[in-house]
Amino acid sequence: MTRRVDLRSDTVTQPTPAMREAMASAVVGDDGYGEDPTINELEAKFAALVGKEAAIFVPSGVMANQIAVRVLTKPGDVIVAGRGQHVVSFEMGASARNSSVQFALVDDTKGTLALADVLDVIDAEIDHQPHVSMVSVENTHMPSGGTPWHASDLQSLVAAIGGRPLHLDGARLFNAVVATGTTAAEFAQPATTVMASLSKGLCAPVGSLLAGPASLMECGRIERKRLGGTMRQAGFLAAAGIVALDTMVDRLSEDHARARQLAQLFSESFPEAGYDPTTCQTNIVAFNHPQARQIVAELAALGVEGGTVAPRRVRFVTHAGISDDDVAFVATTLKNFKPSGIAH
Ligand SMILES: Cc1ncc(COP(=O)(O)O)c(C=O)c1O
Repeated sequence: MTRRVDLRSDTVTQPTPAMREAMASAVVGDDGYGEDPTINELEAKFAALVGKEAAIFVPSGVMANQIAVRVLTKPGDVIVAGRGQHVVSFEMGASARNSSVQFALVDDTKGTLALADVLDVIDAEIDHQPHVSMVSVENTHMPSGGTPWHASDLQSLVAAIGGRPLHLDGARLFNAVVATGTTAAEFAQPATTVMASLSKGLCAPVGSLLAGPASLMECGRIERKRLGGTMRQAGFLAAAGIVALDTMVDRLSEDHARARQLAQLFSESFPEAGYDPTTCQTNIVAFNHPQARQIVAELAALGVEGGTVAPRRVRFVTHAGISDDDVAFVATTLKNFKPSGIAH
């Protein structure tokens, strides 16, 4: 049986032994009554980390984004967001289904949104176009290859959007923190709401957090209930989340270093893709290739598993389950890789 290096996503990570121990001994209660001390501790810890008044623990990143949309919009409103963002392209139309809102999409090929593009959408309100109730950004931005924002660009964006709220999808916020040296609170400061996932690079089994002003998070608790996300004795999961925030952030730099090595290897193996490996700043290698699906299928057959995130766009993601030895295996596999029908 061929060896398997699973670079499909950082969501495949396993909980660490310390997490399993913390889960086994967690003190729990009914979170529907606000009585789970471990969840309360995790929520307070995250709120402090991102400099917000309150936070809520939710089962998934999608639910965190969806609650933010529910509390920051009214039906018929417009959300300005990048075309490739998770809340736009990877949530099965949830914002339309749950909140009856529509998106005004702007280019986010490089991971950030151009201020002029966002302001154009807002300016169109004067031309009888629908009300823009919020702007959403992703940090790091997944489809562009895990690109972090500059905190100063987020500040400029918020200063320009005239009091409208910014939602920060920080599923990989701590990757951005580790890559840039900017703190989570600095990134979150211009945003009204910020979410982060515990279940990706941080290795917790389940869960995300949404933080913001206390009054908004009270509304968020009601929306979480409406979406079926009140989890009762979920302190078992929160216990792993506390270990994740306390001990798993700094090691993300190892994932970033391995991703940079992979970026170099892929750029050399597929020169026709024109992929610039220096664009890889965190844990995601993503590039366009006309035969993306074929490459992914043929590499998977050799034990190197990746994925596609759009037609002709390949993605490989490093995480705690990937070792230096795995990177060496990818290097050897790529050296001998002759994809059928691709001119080299
Ligand atoms: C940027 C981004 N936001 C949100 C999510 C959703 O997280 P979850 O899978 O926990 O619902 C993901 C998941 O991969 C993501 O990459």
